Amino acid sequence: MAFKRFAIFASGLGSNALNLISYARENADKFSIEVLVTDKENAPVIASAKQLGIPVEVIPFISTGSAKADKKNHEEKILSALSKYNISWVALAGYMRILSPQFLDKFYDQNLQKNRVLNIHPSLLPDFPGKDGYGDAYSAGVPFSGVTVHFVDSGIDAGPIFLQRSFERNSSDSLEDFISRGKKIEREIYREAIKLVTEDQI
Ligand code: GRF
Repeated sequence: MAFKRFAIFASGLGSNALNLISYARENADKFSIEVLVTDKENAPVIASAKQLGIPVEVIPFISTGSAKADKKNHEEKILSALSKYNISWVALAGYMRILSPQFLDKFYDQNLQKNRVLNIHPSLLPDFPGKDGYGDAYSAGVPFSGVTVHFVDSGIDAGPIFLQRSFERNSSDSLEDFISRGKKIEREIYREAIKLVTEDQI
């Protein structure tokens, strides 16, 4: 089993990022989190990751009005920042941007026939993709929902599903109850997915 060097991409609070950082510390012989990349200068995850000694690359998206050129420019900056960390895998953890096929190609693994880029999404994909998986599933009144870890392609919350786990929605659930049950599963399932990756058990 080859040692895996991960980058985490996050845009927000970072509960998943911090979970993976702790998990990496517990499994330091198998994988490492080398760097956290964020596009948001004020993301709370920045301070938390720094406190844990993880290098942080803040790379804001600069909009000049040309969406395609702006994305290319942003992703080139990310790749250039990553070049010094010798990354083999990327774990998205609340990263609020869609990665282009050109970016994902850099992480294409011929043996796996997949991009070495994972994402966690708070619904049972393909149901409820998009920004508010919990809110959309809750509003739709589903009797159960879940969490998905998937390989990333250039669609929105698309790409081959790797692990999924469901949870029930109780009739008395507030949205907060529903989310907190899901968050617990997020913590478990992302660790399990990373464990499978690090043990070459995909
Ligand atoms: C999580 O719900 C994750 O499933 C989704 O974005 C949210 C990020 O939360 N992709 P956090 O920043 O990791 O706390």
